[in-house]
Amino acid sequence: MSWTPLETDDGSWTLRRARDGASCHSTAGAWTQACERYAAPCRVAELGSERGVVRVLEVGTGLGLNLAAALRALAASGARLEACSLELDSSVIEASLDLPQGPECARWLAPVQGALRVALERRDSRSCELEPGLGLLELRLGDAARSLEELDAGRFDAVFFDPFAPADEPRLWTRAVLASVARAMAPHAILSTYSAALDARAGLAAAGLRVGQGPRVGRKAQGTLASFTAPLPPLHPRLARRIAARASRFREA
Ligand SMILES: C[S@@+](CC[C@H](N)C(=O)[O-])C[C@H]1O[C@@H](n2cnc3c(N)ncnc32)[C@H](O)[C@@H]1O
Repeated sequence: MSWTPLETDDGSWTLRRARDGASCHSTAGAWTQACERYAAPCRVAELGSERGVVRVLEVGTGLGLNLAAALRALAASGARLEACSLELDSSVIEASLDLPQGPECARWLAPVQGALRVALERRDSRSCELEPGLGLLELRLGDAARSLEELDAGRFDAVFFDPFAPADEPRLWTRAVLASVARAMAPHAILSTYSAALDARAGLAAAGLRVGQGPRVGRKAQGTLASFTAPLPPLHPRLARRIAARASRFREA
């Protein structure tokens, strides 16, 4: 697969898939999106202080920016990251390794890229060490829809659900896939995704998760958060009713 580098508005770089122009990040800021869409609303820093180790599931490894943002969030507490990241196409990781990133992003991306390099050489799913003391990264190459079925139930403290959009990658937004993601989440875990699509939200609700509003990031007015038990910013009540109605239709189908 061929990927084209693209500088985003905060100075960080992302990749665009040449075949269809699907971009790995918002052009408003790839690093900003990683920090504000994923690490912050999933409460990675707080989980680190509370638990000492934070288990993150990521769907769509891409450039590794979300994992770098998780490491940055854990720096203050010194907690370890244990990440499992699912990626279909190793060429996106390879294409990202030489992109120029700003100093803060590069500082936290370096250990992620080090672990990704080792994982790509080994071509198996054994965990690779991030820098000593930072934690572990397990890269599972293949279709995430399949990989998700193999994960232990209730294992993860946070989920970065970051595949391409439903229009570009519909098979990762099915009710079955969303149910597999929910199965892998601990009760307190928060899932974050950039999508605010009604069907995606209803699929998460049909899997038993409560659905809340994700933050405004860049030009994207809102995303979606979901959790079994964690408090979440509420959706407008009328929207919440529409999601509940569609989720119950999904359950009956
Ligand atoms: C939006 S990008 C991810 C960006 C990434 N999270 C980061 O922090 O840089 C979406 C990624 O999902 C991957 N992807 C697409 N279809 C997939 C599938 N069926 N299974 C796993 N990964 C997939 C793409 O190759 C791409 O790397």
